[in-house]
Amino acid sequence: MKKVLVVSGHTDLKNSVANSTILGILKEKLPGAEFDLLDSLYPDFRIDVKAEQEKLLKADVVVLQFPIYWFSMPSILERWIEDVFLHGWAYGSTGDKLKGKVLIDSFTTGSPETAYQKGGAVGHTMDEFLVKTPVIAGFCGMKYAGRVYSGGMAWMALGANEAAKEQVRAKAAVHAGKLVKLIESL
Ligand SMILES: Cc1cc2nc3c(=O)[nH]c(=O)nc-3n(C[C@H](O)[C@H](O)[C@H](O)COP(=O)(O)O)c2cc1C
Repeated sequence: MKKVLVVSGHTDLKNSVANSTILGILKEKLPGAEFDLLDSLYPDFRIDVKAEQEKLLKADVVVLQFPIYWFSMPSILERWIEDVFLHGWAYGSTGDKLKGKVLIDSFTTGSPETAYQKGGAVGHTMDEFLVKTPVIAGFCGMKYAGRVYSGGMAWMALGANEAAKEQVRAKAAVHAGKLVKLIESL
């Protein structure tokens, strides 16, 4: 069984509906996986680089789980990549520690998926916004296994009531199912 590391880039999981639901289902379905909850580990953004590199060394599959903030990854996840994927460790002529590992990104947006297309409300696709994940993977000799993406996940925009939260939880469950399938197919 492949060892899975799920890195949560949500900045406030206590107030999350979509990402916390996805993480909860992953914990159930992937009992051997390790969960790296960056918001509770590093509320001050001071990443323990050695500890994070150790987690990566043990993993065969790395899942980046996050909500889209301003058309990108949340700042804490960007910071984690900046601090941990170091030259001479992750990339460069002697940086081979991530080589052969699989990278997946899994994320949610508030806007519906239809907004993220040419002519849609946002007008750009997720391939354009998140072009960097497969590039980072390639740079580090990792295999990029693709992304799992679900839109329309902002319960506040769907009515801000319990029914809206339930709607988001249901979509999050579908999302988690797709992600588990992808991981199991590796
Ligand atoms: C600071 C911030 C920036 C956001 N930027 C975007 C954005 O650029 N595009 C989008 O579709 N949704 C955006 N959203 C909505 C979140 O992506 C959405 O609320 C989240 O995916 C829901 O997951 P959660 O319940 O786990 O927080 C933003 C939310 C916040 C708080």
